[in-house]
Amino acid sequence: MTMTAVRMHDYGDAGVLRVDTIPRPATIGPRDLRIAVQAAAINPVDFKIRKGAQRALIWLDLPWTLGMDVSGVVTEVGSKVKGFAVGDEVISSPSHRRMGCYAEEVVLRADECAPKPAAVDHVHAAALPLVGLTAYDALVGAAKLKAGEKVLIQAGAGGVGSIAIQLAKHLGAEVYTTCSPRNAELVTELGADHVIDYRSQDYEEVARGCDVVLESMGGDHLERALRTVRNGGRVASITPGLLDWTKRYGKVMGVLRFAGYFLRLALGARLKRGVRLSLVTRHADGKNLAYLSRLVDEGAIAPLVDRTYPLAETAEAHRYLETGHARGKVVLTT
Ligand SMILES: NC(=O)c1ccc[n+]([C@@H]2O[C@H](COP(=O)([O-])OP(=O)(O)OC[C@H]3O[C@@H](n4cnc5c(N)ncnc54)[C@H](OP(=O)(O)O)[C@@H]3O)[C@@H](O)[C@H]2O)c1
Repeated sequence: MTMTAVRMHDYGDAGVLRVDTIPRPATIGPRDLRIAVQAAAINPVDFKIRKGAQRALIWLDLPWTLGMDVSGVVTEVGSKVKGFAVGDEVISSPSHRRMGCYAEEVVLRADECAPKPAAVDHVHAAALPLVGLTAYDALVGAAKLKAGEKVLIQAGAGGVGSIAIQLAKHLGAEVYTTCSPRNAELVTELGADHVIDYRSQDYEEVARGCDVVLESMGGDHLERALRTVRNGGRVASITPGLLDWTKRYGKVMGVLRFAGYFLRLALGARLKRGVRLSLVTRHADGKNLAYLSRLVDEGAIAPLVDRTYPLAETAEAHRYLETGHARGKVVLTT
């Protein structure tokens, strides 16, 4: 039995992605689910991996199937799995080790899956897991955002930003966000209270003294985020730039230099101003994902989809996301 999968055959531009016919996974483990993929979202990490940015840290056995966001239907259940049955609609953002959602079928750990929100279709459900878990880990897990607090969410119109705004509003926070003028209306509809045009305004001034910053732009934005929060505030960074350091200095020196840089920043912020800086990486956690799925069903958050592409046009979809100006998520359909 074969299936269609889009695999990267080398490191490089979107042209290294090819539509292949490959064998379906032959067996599944006792704690796994076999899932018929209905939709799979694309994330910036996918093209970063494709371009080789994580090469120093993670070894890939090429050709490799990317994809860390899926919505689909369970077709087989591992012998030790509880709580899922054949025919269930599920979503997941698997860990790096188990990616491979750019395919007609994927086998994932059941504890990295959750029920699909019934209120939305597979395309919108696939747009939730990775960005939803990231926003949750940053705002709830790391920053412990509380009702009544002021939070700055960078890049509010993007995949993470669009869901983070809604989650922050659900938690009762007052939301500042950055975007270009064309997205001002969109982020306001998502719930932002204060819209900052990053081309003409300085968020350090507009949002100065806020309690929390969700930093997602990388580069000097990390240090700018630390300057923006109040004394005793929290910064959750999802783009600390480790990959740039390993690319520049190799695995060992890159990690060491990055650790030195990050520790200096974090310690300095803590000692001088009581600011807590956290480095956030999304956890592939089925329980947190189930919570987010329930929030969608309750109408508290709604995944935002910019464009869909058929699986066979994944390379085009990568090119679009790489422009850096998608509004919400880009989703593949099988
Ligand atoms: N640590 C983790 O676990 C984790 C998880 C998820 C994502 N990430 C990282 O977080 C970053 C964001 O991910 P994403 O999925 O949200 O990306 P994305 O969807 O591609 O972000 C696109 C958005 O960025 C906005 N943008 C571009 N330049 C901007 C600027 N200078 N200021 C403010 N907004 C700007 C664009 O809005 P305009 O069109 O209005 O400019 C667009 O809506 C990526 O680097 C990703 O790899 C990390």
